[in-house]
Amino acid sequence: MEKIIEEDRQGTSLLLENNEVTTRKLYIESYGCQMNFSDSEIVASILAKEGFNTTQELLEADLVLVNTCSIREKAEQTVRKRLEKFNAVKKVNPNMKVGVLGCMAERLKSKFLEEEKIVDMVVGPDAYKDLPNLIQEIDEGRNAVNVILSKDETYGDIAPVRLNSNGVTAFVSITRGCDNMCTFCVVPFTRGRERSRDPKSIIEEVNELWAKGYKEITLLGQNVDSYLWYGGGLKKDFEKATPMQRATAVNFAKLLEMVALAQPKMRIRFSTSNPQDMTLDVIETMAKHSNICNYIHLPVQSGSDRILKAMNRLHTRQEYMELIDNIRRILPDCAISQDMIAGFPTETEEDHQDTLSLMEYVKYDFGFMFAYSERPGTLAARKMNDDVPEEVKKRRLREIIDLQQKHGLYRTKQHVGKVDEVLIEGPSKKSEAHWMGRNSQNTVVVFPKEQYTIGDFVHVKIEDCTSATLLGEAVGFSNNN
Ligand code: SAH
Ligand code: F3S
Repeated sequence: MEKIIEEDRQGTSLLLENNEVTTRKLYIESYGCQMNFSDSEIVASILAKEGFNTTQELLEADLVLVNTCSIREKAEQTVRKRLEKFNAVKKVNPNMKVGVLGCMAERLKSKFLEEEKIVDMVVGPDAYKDLPNLIQEIDEGRNAVNVILSKDETYGDIAPVRLNSNGVTAFVSITRGCDNMCTFCVVPFTRGRERSRDPKSIIEEVNELWAKGYKEITLLGQNVDSYLWYGGGLKKDFEKATPMQRATAVNFAKLLEMVALAQPKMRIRFSTSNPQDMTLDVIETMAKHSNICNYIHLPVQSGSDRILKAMNRLHTRQEYMELIDNIRRILPDCAISQDMIAGFPTETEEDHQDTLSLMEYVKYDFGFMFAYSERPGTLAARKMNDDVPEEVKKRRLREIIDLQQKHGLYRTKQHVGKVDEVLIEGPSKKSEAHWMGRNSQNTVVVFPKEQYTIGDFVHVKIEDCTSATLLGEAVGFSNNN
């Protein structure tokens, strides 16, 4: 039987003789930050319109996409290892095509095709709408590359297909790119200049999520506090905005309030906050709306003024401590987490001690801690020597992690004996008999299932804790259901 292959308007659906549209199978894997996971949902949505269904089975995939991360060298090595695995799978499934998306795609561009023979397609973070055309190229046997960064692409008009979703929590992206130019960071190069998404489309997405039963959203951006909508365009072009655009501009505090009011029972989180851009009105907005969670991820990277300056973090240790004081004053129950880098070029033992003493001051609830990894093309790579020996970086990192663990335990202990409101996200990883959820402060809470179910807001009496988890027993539904 001869198959008639016909291109539909979008180019890639295959029509069989009996007019049945075949679906192809997409296997998509994401690495790195939450933004990548969120982007993969946008990609799945774009490709669903092209007749692709997602699959969890690598062996049956027609198209394998890997959404990559460049933030540290190790993240890139992980992706390279995965590509080796795909190579092996291709021996069994020779028709499988492989595309790389995300930050490594943007960083390496067409070099990727030379370095990794398995790769058929390279697509940067702003080029996903071009995927239908690029897939057509690879279907016709050519390699395809699009790594053009955009001034306005925010994918605001695309309803993401929720992947691996628990049906309860979801990400909603609000800005793309970053203008901060921290000297160690590759993100401004791989994700381009900062731009914000139309608040109208953000609210619509939040409303749709609520209608589908979602109970918690996280507003996502590299630097959410820098959010600024004035009708479109780059953040840095705001100075060219008309008086009317200025007068009606929406900043992050305003957006947060709009979202909180649009769905008063939806829990709202956001990530990531940059200390230099976080304003008091954001903290005050959090205090005003009980559905905005009491949790701020506030990376500082170092406690040393000299290192902060070399990193181009545009605040001092003192200013950061004042911000912490303001958060504690306005939101006494607020959890705060950090990102830290150990062993930035020229970091001395004294600088490292400054980091530890800043940690003592804040006593973070949790943190994400890394050894400095030089990234090609960044200012630090071009202007500074990666001169802290690997074993010194490792030892300092160990000290930072150990101290964080101590502070984590100090914070979790404060919850013991109290009753926290928890949103149930799913079964505990360790025990089928227990639910896992989070309290407002974003701490994981585990408790026996009883009559409760996924998506319920439950009051849990906290009885015990580790440095990162609270253990307790449900004492009833909260009135947020
Ligand atoms: N604003 C972003 C930060 C992205 S990078 C966000 O949304 O989280 C996440 C963290 O990775 C940074 O805060 C920093 O602590 C770490 N990081 C970035 N570049 C790094 C590098 N070159 N070496 C080690 N850690 C790095
Ligand atoms: Fe990177 Fe600094 Fe932006 S860490 S993402 S350049 S705020």
